[in-house]
Amino acid sequence: MSTIGVLGAGTWGIALARMLTNCGHDVVVWSAIESEIDELSNTRKHKNLPGMEIPQETKFTKSIEEVCSGKDILLFAVPSVFVRSAARKSNPYVRANQIIVDVAIGIEPETLLTLTQVIQDELDNPVHLVTLSGPTHAQEVARDVPTMIVSACTDLEIARRVQDLFMNSCLRVYTNPDVEGVELCGAVKNIIELSTGIAAGLGCGDNMKAALITRGMAEVSRLGKAMGCYEQTFSGLAGMGELIVTATSEHSRNNRCGKLIGQGIKPEEAVKQIGMVVEGINALPAILQLAERYHVSMPITEAVDEIVNGEQSPKDVMAELMSREKRSEISTTVNYEHALLQKGRETGMKRVITYGTYDLLHYGHINLLRRAKALGDYLIVVLSSDEFNWKEKHKKTYFTYEQRKQLLESIRYVDLVIPETNWQQKRTDMHEYHIDTFVMGDDWKGKFDFLKEEGVGVVYLPRTPEISSSQMKKDLHDADQGESKITHDDIDTDPQ
Ligand SMILES: NC(=O)c1ccc[n+]([C@@H]2O[C@H](COP(=O)([O-])OP(=O)(O)OC[C@H]3O[C@@H](n4cnc5c(N)ncnc54)[C@H](O)[C@@H]3O)[C@@H](O)[C@H]2O)c1
Repeated sequence: MSTIGVLGAGTWGIALARMLTNCGHDVVVWSAIESEIDELSNTRKHKNLPGMEIPQETKFTKSIEEVCSGKDILLFAVPSVFVRSAARKSNPYVRANQIIVDVAIGIEPETLLTLTQVIQDELDNPVHLVTLSGPTHAQEVARDVPTMIVSACTDLEIARRVQDLFMNSCLRVYTNPDVEGVELCGAVKNIIELSTGIAAGLGCGDNMKAALITRGMAEVSRLGKAMGCYEQTFSGLAGMGELIVTATSEHSRNNRCGKLIGQGIKPEEAVKQIGMVVEGINALPAILQLAERYHVSMPITEAVDEIVNGEQSPKDVMAELMSREKRSEISTTVNYEHALLQKGRETGMKRVITYGTYDLLHYGHINLLRRAKALGDYLIVVLSSDEFNWKEKHKKTYFTYEQRKQLLESIRYVDLVIPETNWQQKRTDMHEYHIDTFVMGDDWKGKFDFLKEEGVGVVYLPRTPEISSSQMKKDLHDADQGESKITHDDIDTDPQ
């Protein structure tokens, strides 16, 4: 038996509290709304879970100290907008290494933090954070209808402990190390679900519902991939699973809210009629900011935002979506990539990868790319995104990511250019792109030897000594000041 404190007495918190009590755990539920605690403990019923009885053994409290102190697990089950305030209130009572399971879904708009990151942000002690997400309607879990869910934690040992604790004959739990991917899926699926509701409200049928689910999945996968999440997460329970359940079910409040909006009811009024949190609307600002940050196209999300913010009518937005510029379902890069991958498998094609900013492209860059390509048959350049440069490397490039990408793509040694968005992606890139050799200039000598653990060769190529983007910037600046020391005769342009 474990001791569990549940923060939040909405439909999901109560459905899980009931289930965990029935599994023999010692469960106490807290809510910020005191009248709710009185009603639940007196009636043993929840107004949005008809027919469900809360066991007598489930305890209720109005004290945040009581719900947090001495528990094996704290379960955060408040709507996303209250996660920060609930975490702040709990801070004095949360011990170091506490396991906290978050079931709320969303990304905080101002900070773009996922909700587990928001919780840690408010706590003084370091804790183990797990997100629990998947195709789960509280109404079904409240009736012991078989359900599957994902326990995601970067520490798989902790994910497994939560798996053991929540797993029972009605709930099957899978583990996943990709916490950010799972949380992102949850936030975006609520928006896609709003879109399927809006389409239904406009009179569209199953065809459009399936199309929005599929294209919505493409949107979240694009964003997740750019953010460095695992691709498998998006085809898993928290990704495809959640999207299917929420976008097709009448239980789903985002779907129902979208339907009302599609029928012409104002968004604020639709939310009022639903009477519970509509997380898809809450998630819109953050997801749009992330799409902009990672240069990812998310037309369905943008369309929902225009409708929810009253910029366009659902009917006009639908007409616009249908008449967007014609395009292929498969991007040309993927086709090319796929063909080469196949060819690589048959012929043993050698793949080389290198990373850099490539601002103010110069012949030193070309020398390096030519030598890198000579080490194999296919060269991938991972180009740091503007956001990554600014946030992590604290530098601003002269050319934007798109401009630098265009320049690189026109070089005959370069076969593919992809974005670098975080420091961690190098390890996963080695596997995702089936890399044989990792190449960098010798100014990085030794710094990337750890990639040998991923089974790739690591090569540091000599740099062309007299040229660099920073040197160019300096020389141009000096020239501007009338102090130029370098002429083109000083520069060795011999490609060898
Ligand atoms: N209901 C489901 O089927 C389900 C399934 C999976 C995930 N989730 C997620 O779980 C989260 C909670 O969902 P829900 O269905 O329980 O929502 P809900 O609308 O039923 O929750 C309302 C509850 O929020 C709490 N609350 C209200 N004001 C608060 C405040 N100021 N501070 C702290 N708490 C406050 C109260 O306990 C209230 O009952 C959401 O993020 C939701 O997306 C829900």
